[in-house]
Amino acid sequence: MSDEREHLISAAEQLLAIEDLLGGKYMPAVRNPLPEIEPSALPPAALIGEDTMTPEDKTRELAAMNDGEVKNCRRCPLGKSRTNTVFGEGDPNAELVFVGEGPGADEDRTGRPFVGRAGELLTKMILAMGLTRERVFICNIVKCRPPGNRAPATEEVDACWGYLVRQLQIIRPKVIVTLGNPATQNLLDTRTGITRLRGQWQKLPDLGEGLGGIDVMPTFHPAYILRQYTPENRGKVWDDLQKVLVKLGMELPKKQ
Ligand code: SF4
Ligand code: URA
Repeated sequence: MSDEREHLISAAEQLLAIEDLLGGKYMPAVRNPLPEIEPSALPPAALIGEDTMTPEDKTRELAAMNDGEVKNCRRCPLGKSRTNTVFGEGDPNAELVFVGEGPGADEDRTGRPFVGRAGELLTKMILAMGLTRERVFICNIVKCRPPGNRAPATEEVDACWGYLVRQLQIIRPKVIVTLGNPATQNLLDTRTGITRLRGQWQKLPDLGEGLGGIDVMPTFHPAYILRQYTPENRGKVWDDLQKVLVKLGMELPKKQ
């Protein structure tokens, strides 16, 4: 496919994702020509700690942690009930990491994060930003499914914590988006709820070498948006994601 054709297709996909998210507000009156949406140029990584790892090192370290430790982990009871561990996926050198709560049934079955209905909405959110799943990293605070889709228990989060911290240390993102209460409250070490925290920049506490101070944007979990599918909630999430684009120095989609 020619570059231009690919670019137009991704511009159209981005537009449709925004439209889906916002329910029509951004639909151009005229379908042709498509809006100019440049593939966002990635700015050089602004690093909190020193990032001495090459992208190849990062890929190797993440794979070693997954293959050598997570896949056979029995550190908490979820290790017994799971079908597959869900390590997370995406660009090991991503500037943007999304952190969710824990695998659901679809994720447990496939071993991949956010592939069910909530995952479809997250994918749409990412496309609306002009990004793709491959350019960000997507993971959860626990790597095995809590039975019955309950929130992970404190002991489970604690047992799994080291993996998330190491993932973040390897990836060293510029921005972390926490999806919903469990991810937000655990990563920010707070009891304040998502309704109060969302949309406001937070800083990661010092979880380990080089991680303190990373910018965190808490937003609603896509599963919550699906339950409360109002234009207001979808608009709030879109506002939060646009703040993330600004922080990353990426282009905002143009209003039509
Ligand atoms: Fe290990 Fe985390 Fe799975 Fe518990 S949830 S068994 S700590 S990988
Ligand atoms: N919900 C989550 O929090 N994580 C997933 O991976 C899927 C659904």
